[in-house]
Amino acid sequence: MAAALAAFATVPQGLRANRGLTTTVKTRSVSLVSKLTSKRKYGLQQCSATPTLAREALAAPPVSIDSIAEQLKAAGGPKERAQLLLELAKSLPPFPADARTMANRVMGCTAQVWVDAELNSSGRVQFSADSDSDVTRGLAAVLVTALSGLTPAQVLEVEPEDLAELQLGPAVLTPSRTNGFLNMLEAMRKRARVLSGAFLPTFPSLRVSADAIDPQGTFAIAQAKYLEPDPAQVDALVKVLSEKRIGLVAHFYMDPQVQGVLSAAAERWPHIHISDSLVMADSAVRMAEAGCTSVAVLGVDFMSENVRAILDEAGHADVAVYRMAAADIGCSLAEAAEAPAYSAYLGAAAGNAAPALHVVYINTSLRTKALAHAQVPTITCTSSNVVQTVLQAFAQVPGINVYYGPDTYMGANLAVMLRAVAQMSDEEIRALHPEHNRESVRALLPRLHYFESGTCIVHHLFGAEVSQLLREAYGDAYLTAHFEVPGEMFALAMEAKKRGMGVVGSTQNILDFIAAKLAEAVERPFPDTLQVVLGTESGMVTAIVRKVQAMLRAAGRLDVTVEIVFPVASEAITTSANSPADPSQGASAGGTLPGGLPVVPGPAGGEGCSAEGGCASCPYMKMNSLDALLGVCAKIGTPGEALLEAFRPRAYTEPMADGRSIAAAGCEPILYMRGFQASKRLPDALVADILSRKHA
Ligand SMILES: *[C@@H]1O[C@H](CO)[C@@H](O)[C@H](O)[C@H]1NC(C)=O
Ligand SMILES: *[C@@H]1O[C@H](CO)[C@@H](O)[C@H](O)[C@H]1NC(C)=O
Repeated sequence: MAAALAAFATVPQGLRANRGLTTTVKTRSVSLVSKLTSKRKYGLQQCSATPTLAREALAAPPVSIDSIAEQLKAAGGPKERAQLLLELAKSLPPFPADARTMANRVMGCTAQVWVDAELNSSGRVQFSADSDSDVTRGLAAVLVTALSGLTPAQVLEVEPEDLAELQLGPAVLTPSRTNGFLNMLEAMRKRARVLSGAFLPTFPSLRVSADAIDPQGTFAIAQAKYLEPDPAQVDALVKVLSEKRIGLVAHFYMDPQVQGVLSAAAERWPHIHISDSLVMADSAVRMAEAGCTSVAVLGVDFMSENVRAILDEAGHADVAVYRMAAADIGCSLAEAAEAPAYSAYLGAAAGNAAPALHVVYINTSLRTKALAHAQVPTITCTSSNVVQTVLQAFAQVPGINVYYGPDTYMGANLAVMLRAVAQMSDEEIRALHPEHNRESVRALLPRLHYFESGTCIVHHLFGAEVSQLLREAYGDAYLTAHFEVPGEMFALAMEAKKRGMGVVGSTQNILDFIAAKLAEAVERPFPDTLQVVLGTESGMVTAIVRKVQAMLRAAGRLDVTVEIVFPVASEAITTSANSPADPSQGASAGGTLPGGLPVVPGPAGGEGCSAEGGCASCPYMKMNSLDALLGVCAKIGTPGEALLEAFRPRAYTEPMADGRSIAAAGCEPILYMRGFQASKRLPDALVADILSRKHA
């Protein structure tokens, strides 16, 4: 066991996280031995399939994985191991220059690494690899030796843990080499999958370079089209906004057609801002300060209500706020918190003898916040600060129970994430939150609750099916997932994160991650393609494309490309024969499903959905059309303005039991959040409220 543990100790943190038990290590080692034993039966000679003959003739004598393991063990110190790796690098068969293609490149490596694979006539995989760095080449040689000669199915069974007994050690496997090593393994697994004959889908994508946007697939073509909007529409919008001094705040997840026009117009009228819902209100205040006399809001109702409330609070009650429709622009997620089930959930929290805090997602109405706060002390959160808020509450108030809601996916993801944190070392946990350690995180898990029936109406986009396809076809790409996506997609991105290939979090976190990876790529002197799977609403793509192109142009790099992949589930897809009159179905762009069905991917031109609410199939977001916007703007400042009464956000002036208006009471949880963001502690008033309600 000690030996197994020692071997395990050479595996970096990330690998261990989801297999914390030493018994697992033992089983794993045994399974490696059996895999390797079965492999030994087939022998480790070079394969002799005809296409590789030339290469083989040049090949150095084969080295077995067992002898590598033995030599590494015998090598002693880290220096000797590194030396051995360099020798292994030399033993790799030469890699043909014409196979050094971008398609064969391994993503997420600091050096250039190429891998290729062939099946010989007895169905065994022969891997080949190369790198421009000697140590990396040595690591590639280890994998080529370990995996060649297996069947594709056997290669797919090999897990990173299986390679632990190679005992490469931390001196050889620095964190960045570890990521590279794991990414090579992932790239090899993908090639084995291809060789096994599995169907690997190609999702639509946008290839973005400094000077071009190259869409792949119908859906992406539609997205790309909107990046270059109709100049006449842009002119009309700029004219009316500037003449009437109208500010415009829009949520990230607008229909891409609308976003395209807004982004272009923003270059000529500065008071247009596209952001997430929190920033929308702050931008509106800045517009008011800059002299805008009204603000148009493109989003769902809780966003315009929020803009109204924050403007009032900032002393701009005279600035008019307009929504884009006379009817309600709802959000099924936000409405979940208005259902009786939600108040029952909070009722149970209030009845619990332990101190309780309700952490409510910012994307809910002021009424929800006000009524919830009356039941249980409430603080709002965003997907960027929810983890810190929850950790802080547990650290600051002994014995507290935290109730999160209403988004079930986000709640479940939060629980998954904290369970993963509970497996980390004390040191890593302290880096995340200074007042926590493994014991305290384990102890809080049973006191974290989340609402279980809050979901978006159209919510399958990143569900189990699409996640499975993604894992198979894009397992070696960069994977991003918003906190609100269903658990499978989230888990996939969490796993990729451990190899430096993924991010989970808010839309801003996703944008920052892509920018950081791109910054690393442009630092390196060679061409690169970064394939990024966009695990969030496709409306985000406008912001990403602009950022990526700005960076590539600034760096003067025409040879670096970012490919943004849109994962699309078949449930989120409808045939083009479907009537767009059914708002729960996607609309009409065409495309092909596996099997040749004509399809429309969920998120096309405002289709599709994430719990973010930018659901394209969300009939509500669609109400924020360009026509609606121009219609509202045309009436502002004219006698027709009277018709806009129904377009104003609800003011919630009706009083609560304590005499305050709903708006004022609903703002309190938001102010608590702002207090928390400023001081990193829950405000004293909130803590006092939490404690006093239990002693009342
Ligand atoms: C295929 O490769 C395996 C393992 O390397 C080897 O044992 C087998 O002889 C090869 N088959 C052919 C036909 O070359
Ligand atoms: C929900 O709120 C977060 C935080 O402001 C924001 O990033 C996200 O875009 C919002 N989603 C919707 C649908 O408003």
